[in-house]
Amino acid sequence: MDFQKDFPILKSNVNGKPLIYFDNAATSQKPKYVINSINNYYQNYNSNVHRGVHELSQKATNVYEGSRVKIQNFIGAKSSKEIIFTKGTTDGINIIASSWAETQLNQGDEIIITTMEHHSNIVPWQILCEKIGAKLIISPINKKGEMIMSEFKSLISNKTKLISISHVSNTLGTINPVKDIVEIAKENNCKVLIDAAQSIPHFKVDVSKIDCDFLVFSGHKIFAPTGIGVLYVKNDRFQEMKPYQGGGDMIKDVSFEKTTYNDPPHKFEAGTPNISGVVGLGSAIDYVNKIGIDKISNLENDLLHYATEKIESINKIKIFGNAENKASVISFNINGFHPFDIGTLLDQFGIAIRTGHHCTQPLMNFYNIPGTARISFAFYNQKKEIDYFIDSLKKAILMLG
Ligand code: ALA
Repeated sequence: MDFQKDFPILKSNVNGKPLIYFDNAATSQKPKYVINSINNYYQNYNSNVHRGVHELSQKATNVYEGSRVKIQNFIGAKSSKEIIFTKGTTDGINIIASSWAETQLNQGDEIIITTMEHHSNIVPWQILCEKIGAKLIISPINKKGEMIMSEFKSLISNKTKLISISHVSNTLGTINPVKDIVEIAKENNCKVLIDAAQSIPHFKVDVSKIDCDFLVFSGHKIFAPTGIGVLYVKNDRFQEMKPYQGGGDMIKDVSFEKTTYNDPPHKFEAGTPNISGVVGLGSAIDYVNKIGIDKISNLENDLLHYATEKIESINKIKIFGNAENKASVISFNINGFHPFDIGTLLDQFGIAIRTGHHCTQPLMNFYNIPGTARISFAFYNQKKEIDYFIDSLKKAILMLG
């Protein structure tokens, strides 16, 4: 089935060639259904939420809160109150660092992450550690790009308070065993944050089954606009969280003597939110549900295996990230060539890929490389696009000598 017809941008030409969009891990394209829903909001019921008795505000509030319920159902949360709207994954992690970890961790406490984390799951913890005297512990990986579970277990002690881990590595595609990690964490009385930025668009993510304390993702990787994201907080954790920002909507009652706060999730959504982003995210979830996340997963697995085999057959190519359990991301280098040159030449063929360190510099250090070229698929990509990519890559190699 041709899903590309749903995405207007995929009909465009780049550098005189039909666009082949293989940079979905950076951001996904948006279906007309999502674009129209945002248009419809601005044209027909643009208004602020939770603030007006008038018709437009009620409509905007209903759609806004309706999106929260859609997301609750999509990720299997027990209550829509556990869904907080954020700017994105980075924002969600920073909220937990400030709002939860800063009050719950003490000097000498430890946070475990892995070698493969994105900078957004490293730097907020470094800032926090500096502030409160906590320690960041790095769980190692093997050369295939998988967590070494025996080493991970050995790092946990009574000082460990939080494990913050990517569900899927944005650079390697590795799918981490988050359910096992949560079980180990529970035995040791530590809490778990899952960075689901790279898993949520690709396969079913169920917070009740994973049983994590926190989970974050970005709308723009799952066919919604940029600037909107989700922070899931398990209900039990709310009483341990202080407000992240103060302002309108997050209060119950304000006086100069004392302010009382609104209940979650509103307690953590100060100010006028990104209403059009929430509208778009709700529509994106509808769109994904219409196709079916399992179907999306199967289509992408097929593309991943097809492309991996073809890339491996090219001389002098090395793939980084060979985990048994992998999502549709392929990072590679070609002996002697800078990834930037590969990316620039492919762009001339109309192919969009990402090159560089992918915001995972410590992971690049682990492999002792400055960066990689990376292709990443969405379900709307096609095998004929992979064939064209392989032909173009071979031409690029010849051109680079
Ligand atoms: N984190 C996004 C990526 O991997 C931007 O490209």
